[in-house]
Amino acid sequence: MIADKVKAQTSTYHRELEAILVRKIKSIRSVQDYIQILNDFYSFFAGLELLISKHLQPTLADAGERRKTAAIADDLSYFKAKVPDLAAGAELPVILNHFQALGALYVIEGSTLGGKYISQMISQQLNIPVDEGLSFFNGYGESTMEMWARFKDYLNKEAIADEQQADVIEAANQTFLKFKDWVEG
Ligand code: HEM
Repeated sequence: MIADKVKAQTSTYHRELEAILVRKIKSIRSVQDYIQILNDFYSFFAGLELLISKHLQPTLADAGERRKTAAIADDLSYFKAKVPDLAAGAELPVILNHFQALGALYVIEGSTLGGKYISQMISQQLNIPVDEGLSFFNGYGESTMEMWARFKDYLNKEAIADEQQADVIEAANQTFLKFKDWVEG
């Protein structure tokens, strides 16, 4: 099944990204530092969502229930900050077909799993409640594992052939790498 393969074949890049983010989050000293992290996620994820929406055919049946970068805009607005410009072109992974779009979506949806830890870390660093200005990282809250299971079922049903699965894995790895470059840059 592709969901198991993509997990195994992207785990190195996930670990690298996680390490960078943990370091960044631990160095948060002010709301301004948190806003910088929200900006990194907004510009990259919103740019990526545009690309994905152009190529995901058919789209997810429960797309309306899924987390959107609009949640980051809400968190930015909570702290009276403006949304930044979007990442574009070579700053983003190459997404030219449905299976590459699925690979990028795997990374976005999977980030809800780490989001729980991220929101707890940020709330501790800033000494603010987890339900204030942390809606994006809170993800789907209690429903996170169920939403993740549903996404993996969909992925497993869509990407069956070897070349389809190769596109998913390549795009997921590129998404992790480009996002790592983005947050480091
Ligand atoms: C502080 C940062 C992060 C931490 C601590 C973290 C932690 C985790 C943990 C614990 C899981 C496994 C959850 C489970 O199986 O129950 C997970 C899964 C995942 N995370 Fe992260 N994560 C972080 C950041 C990110 C980011 C920024 C992204 C994407 C941009 C991401 C993408 C994923 C993906 C795709 C999975 C799913 C792996 C699978 O296929 O099971 N993570 N993360």
